[in-house]
Amino acid sequence: MQRWALEQRATGRRIGCVPTMGCLHEGHLSLVRCALTRADRVVLTLFVNPTQFGPSEDFSRYPRTVERDIELCRAAGVHAVFLPQAIDMYAADHSVYITEERLGTGLCGASRPGHFRGVCTIVAKLFNLVLPHVAVFGQKDYQQAAIIRRLVRDLNFPVEIVVAPIVREPDGLALSSRNRYLSADERRRALGLSRALRSAQEALNAGQTDGAALCMRLREVLTADGLRVDYVAAIDPDTLEPIAQLRKGVVIALAAFAGQTRLIDNVALG
Ligand code: PAF
Repeated sequence: MQRWALEQRATGRRIGCVPTMGCLHEGHLSLVRCALTRADRVVLTLFVNPTQFGPSEDFSRYPRTVERDIELCRAAGVHAVFLPQAIDMYAADHSVYITEERLGTGLCGASRPGHFRGVCTIVAKLFNLVLPHVAVFGQKDYQQAAIIRRLVRDLNFPVEIVVAPIVREPDGLALSSRNRYLSADERRRALGLSRALRSAQEALNAGQTDGAALCMRLREVLTADGLRVDYVAAIDPDTLEPIAQLRKGVVIALAAFAGQTRLIDNVALG
């Protein structure tokens, strides 16, 4: 991978990277399209990274659809798919990790201990292998994108980070590889997440400015929709700190379970 990347760089080509865990959907393809506008060669990485899953999480059953993913990449104009095996990425006695110590403590970091350590470590490794000029991530993983920006800033990676908008189904459900796990009933309930985010915007439009009261209300909305709430937070878009006074630009971030499936979604209030 490095050799190919160095060859591209030697001929003056810009490399774009789209890191994924596969099971590609239209959300990933929108990241590819974004990367294609910013780079001459686009590499999609496809690796279900074991270090970002907790012991009771879905690593072993995470959907793997490699052949289909490669076909989608080909049709989308991806120039190279990097498809390593865990044994290639992690030596049996690997002992170096990267830990972000501020942005990753709350929200998903609180309910998934070690998750962002795994993400930071694999993203740094992928950057060292793919040597991209630009990398594109999705806004659905809002906290992840903020942490990766911080990783790049604090460790001086020469990579531009671009965050592309969330892609939704026509009924509002944010696209996610984990949507595959949902039964018909769970999928109907999962619509509660995007509904809650729309009601947050409506509340701001109607003059609601109390962040804590809004979060309480959204919890009730999600619970009434049959979801088990993990968190609801009104946060500063950069620091991810909780915000007491709602205003434009504040991000409302949610995580909730539909059955066993943990889903996340967010909106920046407009
Ligand atoms: O967002 C994802 O799919 C993963 O967290 C990433 C960035 C590919 C790292 O494994």
